[in-house]
Amino acid sequence: MSKDEKISNGPIGLDVGTSRIVVARREEKKYQFEAQLNAFITLPWSKLTENLLRQEGVFHEVEGDEIVVAGNDAQKFAEVFHVETRRPMYRGVLNPREPHSLAVVRRIIARLLGRAGAEDKGVFFSVPAAVDNEEGGLAHHEASISQILVSLGYTPTPIEEGLAVVFSELATTNYSGFGISCGSGLCNVCLAELSLPVISFSVPKAGDYIDTHAAAVTGERATRMRIQKEQAFHLNGSDGDRVQNALTVYHDDVIRTLTNTLRTKIASAQQLPKLNKPVPVVLSGGTAMPKGFVERFIAALRMQDFPVRVSEVRISGDPLNATARGALMAALASERTFTTAATA
Ligand SMILES: Nc1ncnc2c1ncn2[C@@H]1O[C@H](COP(=O)(O)OP(=O)(O)O)[C@@H](O)[C@H]1O
Ligand SMILES: [Mg+2]
Repeated sequence: MSKDEKISNGPIGLDVGTSRIVVARREEKKYQFEAQLNAFITLPWSKLTENLLRQEGVFHEVEGDEIVVAGNDAQKFAEVFHVETRRPMYRGVLNPREPHSLAVVRRIIARLLGRAGAEDKGVFFSVPAAVDNEEGGLAHHEASISQILVSLGYTPTPIEEGLAVVFSELATTNYSGFGISCGSGLCNVCLAELSLPVISFSVPKAGDYIDTHAAAVTGERATRMRIQKEQAFHLNGSDGDRVQNALTVYHDDVIRTLTNTLRTKIASAQQLPKLNKPVPVVLSGGTAMPKGFVERFIAALRMQDFPVRVSEVRISGDPLNATARGALMAALASERTFTTAATA
């Protein structure tokens, strides 16, 4: 099976998330999105298994005495073969404890993007901001993703995830305000003024934290918590159900940590721009999706005594695609700048 048949003519926005990789393209004046789970399974090699996967048309690769199935098919076949899915990334970066990490991410990106065509080879890809100013493998992660894109013929540019959200959502305030993405590994935050990042950071509590902690206190499996959370959960106080209660507690924990860190970071910032007008806050990412999340976030932010004046807090209209869309908009904007400069 050839994975590189696809040819892409950019510009492209790529969201390299801990649980999903999303690509955004502009086609016929519309944004188009495509996503793959950032996950894989390994199966012991046997002729039978390989034949079965081939018959089912499942994208797979043989590595030594193992077969690796990556992306959306990993979830499907984990159930068929009774194995656990694994993730190549942890808390926003390539997982150093997972030997397959780089190869799996390369495979998924190659599958979504294909090779670069003759024109417009620019790809803007999302990278997380630092947690507690720690390097935490960020440089290695960024260089590795860049290298994958270069090997496919693209010209890569990293963009911080929070800034990508600003590009996606805050055109009406000239790209001033807070872009926040609450994913599975991290919540990423960027305060931008006129599209330039002023403060960026991330918090290592998000969807995975909610799943593992809610699982620990209820004696359930984290996967079951995730499914409950995604299918039938809203944050409006306790209704007696222990799973719902546990999920509520850990969503509140994430919200409190996020808003407290936001407050501290702004209060301790050396050079805050003047920001004459109140600025908006936009939330995105899967973890911000449950009903009631925005309301709880507003309550925790305590806007009256927040160090920056906030005009509104809202959720993105397309929370799972906002990062990819913003990365694409940044790519389009940079292209326009280059074209203008070249023709001037
Ligand atoms: N509809 C939903 N309701 C609640 N949580 C969701 C929903 N969809 C996804 N999630 C959670 O959001 C997280 C993934 O968000 P996403 O923005 O795709 O993450 P990442 O950037 O880490 O890949 C996971 O923890 C997932 O369980
Ligand atoms: Mg994300």
